[in-house]
Amino acid sequence: MLVRIRKRGVQMEKADDPFALLGACHERIRSFSALALRMLHARGAAPEDVADAAGRVHLYFTVGLPLHAADEDAELTELIQSLVPPDPVSRALDAMQREHREIEAWLEVLAPTWAGLATGALDVEGVRAATLPPTEALARLFDRHLLNEESVIFEFGRENLDADALAALTGGIRARRQSSQP
Ligand SMILES: [Fe+2]
Ligand SMILES: [Fe+2]
Repeated sequence: MLVRIRKRGVQMEKADDPFALLGACHERIRSFSALALRMLHARGAAPEDVADAAGRVHLYFTVGLPLHAADEDAELTELIQSLVPPDPVSRALDAMQREHREIEAWLEVLAPTWAGLATGALDVEGVRAATLPPTEALARLFDRHLLNEESVIFEFGRENLDADALAALTGGIRARRQSSQP
């Protein structure tokens, strides 16, 4: 019983830490980016497995990822800019926002293919050659993008944002997911 109470306490603490929430999103991004590559590389996979993977990749990158990018473009950027950060952090924020637009452009290219694979309208053998290069380019962009955020922006935010700012960041993250519910 004690273990259970303690465990719940730790989880609640983590749930209030905005950088733990943003970090959890990064793990999802890495996982779905890897799945997008894996489903193209898997030769002889059952069509229903490809359709299932493509549907989950499509859902995450068209619904979940835009919420995460909005968390970073809105509250995270505003709160860090309000601290008048040093130049490397300002440059990292500029790169982050520019890369969000690049990611959106790659997703516009890839989303119709994922949707087609998910419904069975497209066949993985037929789309592999054209889809692999943009999927690999997106994966490379995510590698750079997530590391830049984690090692520069999140690190600076963790060390410098006060309790009110951290609460505002968590509030923005939560509100955005609640308002996105149908
Ligand atoms: Fe980002
Ligand atoms: Fe991020």
